[in-house]
Order: sequence, then C-alpha cells, then structure tokens
Amino acid sequence: MMSSYIIEGGKRLEGEVTISGSKNASLPIIAATILNPGTTKLYDIPNIHDTQITLEILKYLGCKVKKGHGKVEINSKKITKTDIPEHLMNQMRSTVILAGAILGRFKEATFSYPGGCDIGARPIDLHLSAFKKLGINISEYSGFITCKCDKIIGANIDLDFPSVGATENIILASIYAEGTTHITNAAMEPEIVDLAQCLNKMGAKIEGAGTKIIKITGVQKLKDISYNVMQDRIEAGTFLCAAAITGGDICLNYRTPEHITPIINKLEEAGCEIKTAKGKVHIKAPKKLKAVDIKTMPYPGFPTDMQSVFASTLTTSKGTSMIVENIFENRYRYVPELNKMGAKINIEGKTAVIKGVKKLSSAKVKSTDLRGGACLVLAGLSAKGVTTVTNIEYILRGYEKLDEKLRKLGATIQLSSEM
Ligand code: EPZ
Repeated sequence: MMSSYIIEGGKRLEGEVTISGSKNASLPIIAATILNPGTTKLYDIPNIHDTQITLEILKYLGCKVKKGHGKVEINSKKITKTDIPEHLMNQMRSTVILAGAILGRFKEATFSYPGGCDIGARPIDLHLSAFKKLGINISEYSGFITCKCDKIIGANIDLDFPSVGATENIILASIYAEGTTHITNAAMEPEIVDLAQCLNKMGAKIEGAGTKIIKITGVQKLKDISYNVMQDRIEAGTFLCAAAITGGDICLNYRTPEHITPIINKLEEAGCEIKTAKGKVHIKAPKKLKAVDIKTMPYPGFPTDMQSVFASTLTTSKGTSMIVENIFENRYRYVPELNKMGAKINIEGKTAVIKGVKKLSSAKVKSTDLRGGACLVLAGLSAKGVTTVTNIEYILRGYEKLDEKLRKLGATIQLSSEM
C-alpha cells in the first residue's frame, strides 16, 4: 500500500521541535546488543521502519525484544540462528552490519546481498575483504554469502574508502577477537563514536573512534548496560532546511550542533541567522536565500545525506548554486520530481547546477528514496497550493513522526494511505 503526504505549502514554519534519536547510530547499536548474551537497555531509539526491521531480525535470531516508553530492551541470551532472512535483508541495506555482530559472537553468519534505497551500487566489497583479513572464510552461492571461521584474529585493515558500514562491521566483528585490530582510513562519523561509546560501556576496548585510526583490543565478555543513543544530525539538518525554505523562525531541541557544522555554515552563507546555546539551535531565515555551493564529503565534510534536502532548499534562492555529490554515484533521482515543481536543476555527471527560481509550484511528485523523499516534502512546504508526495514509505524509514512535528511548526500536512 502506497501512502502519501498531502501538503498545503506557502506557510512560514515557526516554533519548537525536538529531534529524535539517530537512525544511523541506532542500527549499529541494536546490532551490538547481539554481542552481549544478556540484556541491554537502549533509550531514544526512534520508532521508524528501519529500526523496526532490525528488531524483527533480532527476534528472528532468537532475541527477546521489549519496546515501550522510548526504551528498547533486548535479551540476546538465547540466539539460535545465525542467518539473516532474505525478505528482511532485502528491505534495508544496513542490515549487513548485523553480520559483523553475529560473526563476532558466533563465528558464522549467512546473509544475502543487501537491498535498501537505490542510490547507487552500494557494494559490500570493503566489508567482505575486511572479514577475510580477520580470518573469516567467505563463500558465495546464488546470492547468499556464508561467513565462517574457528576464531577471529585481530588484523590491520586499511580501508580503500572510509566506509561507515565497513568501519562499523569491523568493530562489531573484532570485539571478541584474539589480539588487536587496527582500522586505518576509518570513517569518522559521530554514529561510529556513539557505537564505540556504547560498546566500551558494555566492556569492549575500542580506542580512536571518531578519528582515522581505530584500535580494537579483543575482550572475553561484555556486561548488561543501558545506553541513550545520540540525536539524529540529519533530521536536525532537515528541519533547519525546512525553516530556511519557508523563511521561517524555529528552535530545535538538539544537543550536538558540533555534528552539523557544515550544514550550519552553509545555511549562514545562504543568509540565515543561526544561534546555538544550551541544547538548542535557533534559526531565523530571510525571505530569500542566497545561492551557495556544496561538495559532499565523508565526515566531517558536508554529509551526502543532506545533499537532496539542501538542493531543494536552494531551488528558490537568488543566483545559481552548484552541488557536487562525491559519495554515491546515483543520488540525484529526486531531480526530475523537483523540476516538475518548477525547479531549474541540471545534472552534469556528479554535479547539479541549480538556477534559483522565483517560486516553486505545487504538483504530485514521487519519493525515489529516503532523503529524496524528504526533499520533496520541503519543496511542498515552500510551494503555494497543494502538493502530493507519494511513496512516502521511503520517508517513514528514517524520519519519526515527520508530519506531526511539521504540523506543530505550523505546516499543513496530512498523511493519506491510498489503496
Ligand atoms: C551509511 O551508509 C549511512 N547509512 C548512509 O545513510 C550514509 O549516506 C552513508 O553511510 C555515508 O555517510 C547508515 O548508517 C545506516 P558507506 P553506508 O559504506 O555504510 C561505497 C541515510 O540516508 N562502498 O560509507 O552504506 C558505497 O558504494 C543513509 O540515512 C563501497 O564501494 O555508506 C558508497 O558509494 C543513506 N564498498 C560509499 O562507499 C563497500 O564495501 C559510501 O558508503 C562499502 C561502501
């Protein structure tokens, strides 16, 4: 069943919004609970499709999962399976990090090539070559990958590319390894720091998370703990852009503005006034934004997950903006949908040239992926008249209560489930 958002745009957003827990920190941290044959209590896990799917897989493996009042309690004592079911694997690419956790504890794992949003090839070659270096034997047969070994031996692993998922998978697989694993050219995203903090609280020994070199010293066991996941920096950036595109004035309850420096800098360059203090980020946007240029880079550069959302924000700015997408090779699928709303975006290879237009016009548009869908919601908030964004299942994967939060900021947006 495909659902839609019906948005009546043209209204300034005003008021306060609380940013939910991070999707991209929650997924590896939920995976990490597989490593502890006891009970782990997680707080602030967002209730979105991607976390629901990941918890479904843990239940399939044999974990006991209890959810309620913003808490997820996972008892991984009795895991009886080490394979990830294909129908769940296909729904989300990041399920591949479950493999690292299953391998770390059980020394075997079976999974199929991951599915997920179609934003490019998104292979897992860096994950598999890292597993091999850890002494894991890998066999592939008709789309299924089986990993097996007697023991995981710490190794020095240099990543060709600072892959977030591969960095997380190596950490998860190395927790109980014999000896020490060094990752060089590691990804430095805050979600990796959050994963390491959670694992270290459980008794793991991880040093250097958040830098290019991470050292994991194998331990014998982990203990039961509770942990609050960090807030979602991409959701925070999305709401700042929602204020920017509507000339709004909003305040985010968001405690880590240091995670979104590139986004804040670019919005200030575009003419927004942004103040950060005591767990809040306040943005006042001008009537008309100025064009700015963006290059997506691994953290701490401008995040690729904000590329489509920022492109949408720039469609009605004064002047011409240039965006270069350096991380994924197919992350402009939303552009034809935005151009249907009167945007003037031209793609030349990795570069999007955005000629600012006076205003967008409402239309019926289709979400192509998670962040591509979010950018269409922002365009709908800006365009006068009624915009329908269809296929919003993509958006529900990564944004908790998006329509409810936008309504509280004065937007007119309704969720409608078409048959
Ligand atoms: C994580 O995906 C995030 N997902 C993505 O967020 C984010 O866009 C991405 O990191 C980059 O920041 C989660 O954390 C669940 P990568 P991941 O491995 O781990 C290539 C969202 O919208 N690559 O850093 O899959 C890959 O093809 C999602 O919330 C290989 O070539 O990203 C891509 O071009 C979208 N071989 C680049 O590296 C590999 O083995 C970045 O991928 C692995 C990756």
